[in-house]
Amino acid sequence: MRLLRSGKSNLHPIERQNFSRLGALSEWCDRAIHLQCASGYDTLSLLLEGAKDVVGVDISEVHIQNAQWTSAQLEMPAQWFCCDLLDTPSELNETADLVYTGQGAINWIHDIEAWAGVVARLLCPGGVLSLLDDHPASWLFSQDSEALEASGINYFSHAETNRGWSPEYIGDLGKPRDQHAIKHERVWTIAQVVQALLKAGLQLEYLGEHPDEYWSAFPKLSEADKSRIPMTFSIIARKPA
Ligand SMILES: C[S@@+](CC[C@H](N)C(=O)[O-])C[C@H]1O[C@@H](n2cnc3c(N)ncnc32)[C@H](O)[C@@H]1O
Repeated sequence: MRLLRSGKSNLHPIERQNFSRLGALSEWCDRAIHLQCASGYDTLSLLLEGAKDVVGVDISEVHIQNAQWTSAQLEMPAQWFCCDLLDTPSELNETADLVYTGQGAINWIHDIEAWAGVVARLLCPGGVLSLLDDHPASWLFSQDSEALEASGINYFSHAETNRGWSPEYIGDLGKPRDQHAIKHERVWTIAQVVQALLKAGLQLEYLGEHPDEYWSAFPKLSEADKSRIPMTFSIIARKPA
């Protein structure tokens, strides 16, 4: 909030670098739709990056209430929708020059083709998707280890259901772990994500694999070890004009 108040964008340097391939947002982005916007800091950052109008979509009522509060406090107008992204209202169809998502998003999606279909229906012809998210290969390593150790998961078909959050990820929620909500997440391989986007009719313009993190997923690992594995990947994909 302090960052936004001072007029600074919260976006990751990789996202900003990817945008720089497309020219200034102020020149081409009349509307950006942020899927899985959480409390909207990155959504509002898109205004600072040059988008003229921003829309945030998230399934969490608490996140959307926070987002509404923040945009009102900062006098940064935005539209917020509280729904499953698969149910994003049809009034938004083909209105986005940019669909922006990631930073802990697609692991919560359980039907990647349906997700890609929503991205495609929201984009205007010629509009682009920007995605930066955890690299699926990073799941192959144990997050609690001080050296690179196999987590033992199956890269090609991993889904998990558990309770509790890593404090590195979401901070101290103030409740014992056994009282946290149950969460369901899964790994989508790079191929599954790209194939879903291609099947939805998008064209891949950029695919990057990066050692850079956006959160401290491996708090005990040395920087040297972290630099040896792909932590994140990013995509720019376009709906044909
Ligand atoms: C880790 S957060 C993403 C944070 C985001 N990168 C940001 O701007 O801060 C994941 C978000 O996905 C949302 N979410 C999970 N499943 C969803 C769904 N099916 N539809 C919409 N939002 C969903 C959660 O409520 C949560 O806010």
